[in-house]
Amino acid sequence: MVQFLSKHATFFTAKPSPLSTFVVILILCILGFYTLHYPRSSLLTSRALNASHFQHILLSTSSNYTISTYLRALTLHPHLAGTKLAADTTRYVLNHFSDLGLQTHTVSYKTLLSYPVHSSLSVHHSDGSSTELPLTEQGQVGRDVVTPYHAYSPSGSAYAKAVFVNYGREEDYRALGVLGVNVKGCIVIARKGDVLTRGAVIETAEANGAVAVLLYSDSARFRNGFERGHVMRGIGDPLSPGWAGVNGGESLDLEDSEVLKRFPKIPSMPLSTETAETILNSLGGVPVPLEWRNTLPSKVRNVGPGSTMLNFTYQGEKKVATIQNVFAIIKGSEEPDRYVLLGNHRDAWTYGAVDPSSGTAALLDIARRFSLLLRLGWTPRRTIILCSWDAEEFGMIGSTEWVEQNLVNLGSKAVAYLNVDCAVQGPGFFAGSTPQLDNLLLEVTKMVKDPDSEGATIHDNWEATGENSNIQRLSRVDSDFAPFLQHAGVPSIDMYYGRDFPVYHTAFDSYNWMIENGDPFFQRHVAVAGVWGLLALRLADDSVLPFNYLPYADQLQVYKNTLSNLLDQRIDLNPFTTSLQEFASVAKEANDESKKLRLQETAGCSIDMKKRALNDRLMLAEKGFLNEDGLRGKHWFKHLVFGPPGDHESKLHFFPGIVDSIAWSTRMREKEGRAAIQHEIWRVARAIQRAASALRGEFTFNQ
Ligand SMILES: *[C@@H]1O[C@H](CO)[C@@H](O)[C@H](O)[C@H]1NC(C)=O
Ligand SMILES: *[C@@H]1O[C@H](CO)[C@@H](O)[C@H](O)[C@H]1NC(C)=O
Ligand SMILES: *[C@@H]1O[C@H](CO)[C@@H](O)[C@H](O)[C@H]1NC(C)=O
Repeated sequence: MVQFLSKHATFFTAKPSPLSTFVVILILCILGFYTLHYPRSSLLTSRALNASHFQHILLSTSSNYTISTYLRALTLHPHLAGTKLAADTTRYVLNHFSDLGLQTHTVSYKTLLSYPVHSSLSVHHSDGSSTELPLTEQGQVGRDVVTPYHAYSPSGSAYAKAVFVNYGREEDYRALGVLGVNVKGCIVIARKGDVLTRGAVIETAEANGAVAVLLYSDSARFRNGFERGHVMRGIGDPLSPGWAGVNGGESLDLEDSEVLKRFPKIPSMPLSTETAETILNSLGGVPVPLEWRNTLPSKVRNVGPGSTMLNFTYQGEKKVATIQNVFAIIKGSEEPDRYVLLGNHRDAWTYGAVDPSSGTAALLDIARRFSLLLRLGWTPRRTIILCSWDAEEFGMIGSTEWVEQNLVNLGSKAVAYLNVDCAVQGPGFFAGSTPQLDNLLLEVTKMVKDPDSEGATIHDNWEATGENSNIQRLSRVDSDFAPFLQHAGVPSIDMYYGRDFPVYHTAFDSYNWMIENGDPFFQRHVAVAGVWGLLALRLADDSVLPFNYLPYADQLQVYKNTLSNLLDQRIDLNPFTTSLQEFASVAKEANDESKKLRLQETAGCSIDMKKRALNDRLMLAEKGFLNEDGLRGKHWFKHLVFGPPGDHESKLHFFPGIVDSIAWSTRMREKEGRAAIQHEIWRVARAIQRAASALRGEFTFNQ
């Protein structure tokens, strides 16, 4: 049932005047009456309400009440991908969409997932005594919560000395090396920092000769939580790398070298801060390096290896399981073959109130409001698809398989992908985008009320904190935008409230945590849903796509300047200079053309084919940055501007191929190293040229 004019609904999220408030309520009442009696064929509909009215109604029908009820329902039980309980959550989302009258689809894949079977850890002291350590959260944890583990860790056991390796970065191992500590044959204990991903910590430990890794996140507030997570390399189903794992399709053998190289060779486990400190406090051996000391508790004095031994066992199983993506589709009226996609994953390690159900609740509320707009006569110009992905926590599997299956259509018909994973973790708005969407993002945040300060918009506060001059870029590989942007070249946005929440991937990521800490009144949820929904409306309804490539040109110029300060003067950056100039000039031409077409439109001229042609160029330009060969050593990643560098510790989050070549060049002879970097620079310069050429949309007949 659609919640319509519910007494719980909070109506105005923008800052309407009393008069406009009255007018909108009046319109809603009249249309509500009409649509009840004349659904979808009302006389009053599309002619009376234009696109900006619908945007206003979208905002004014937000409701923290409905979002809170969705979140409550989504978090009643854990919903780990591939489990029976997850199937209940799938049904809940599917029923919600279909009850709203939306066209729905479920798409299943058979993919390789991984679950724990047994684990144990004990400390053996030199006096012969030993202590068994807890490997799961203590206290009120439901029995359906999966015990802490690292998905895709191999099974194994080790009886060995322990060494504390700080954040597990190469520089940490070097610091230990200086003190004469070698981790070969040892179990290493690492804490999770912001630099290395979980997988990178394990990979680095493996490369340094460790036999197992125990990884904890040192959160001061939640000492008792264990951070579950996967440790697979690359993304998507390991049994169908590069193609979709459809039922009856090609599936590699578990022993295939392509599959094996995706998994670590040494076992690993998450620890709570409390458990980790029990071990750390008892380590003998070498004293903690000075530079690590101030961020460690004073009781931690030594890094090992000492006489203390650890006995660690992990046994897990890798299992082919069925995962399900759920879709709701709102068909476009004028350009049904152009798509705006909104996506969020549905699977969670535990109850997943923040991760990802806050995003799912927002998606369900957007569906409720879109359905309401449809009843009021809204017919979007382009098709909108709401996507609920499965198995994101196992390496973006649901979205990756779907992107692989639909690569050509996505490449030629997807306008943009709008991702929300953890919608709300706490206060503060954060967003990342491909730069041609920067301006749209700014415009939309000016229309949505800030949930934490009276009378301000999200944009006001975002600007005050300097965040908007600092829209993030999407080189990370930690949510479902990665396959869309980095494999398919679809312009993308990702956004969330708050960051670094302490119960991340633990059994405590529950509804109670949300109402006590994350978002007590669900107003931050309302804000994210408002931005998300408005972005979708603009992208689906604006007759000329709201893309602007000038910020892209500026961003590329900044990247070039950063490189030129960094690189050997003998490396030639001129290929960049030329292609950037061209890109910037084409971006300006495209903007001028957009303006002209918008003006002609208001003058009532019929210019549909011209708009369509311009829109296609705006949409396709991003594809220019893709390269068929992809990144060296990671050829699945095709985008040469945004993607993950192989060097885990790199501080540069752009041009991953160039960043990699800089890292490799240090291990080559000087001349060859320079040539390797120069080649990558040419590759990126050609990509920028391709993007410019796609945006101009004309063939080259001259030199
Ligand atoms: C929508 O209609 C209102 C008045 O009905 C008008 O002021 C506004 O300019 C229109 N907006 C668009 C985008 O046509
Ligand atoms: C280590 O633990 C395993 C599993 O609990 C046990 O079978 C084994 O005997 C232990 N080894 C030592 C040396 O304590
Ligand atoms: C909705 O917001 C209002 C105002 O902030 C608040 O009083 C109410 O408790 C909220 N409802 C829920 C369900 O959080």
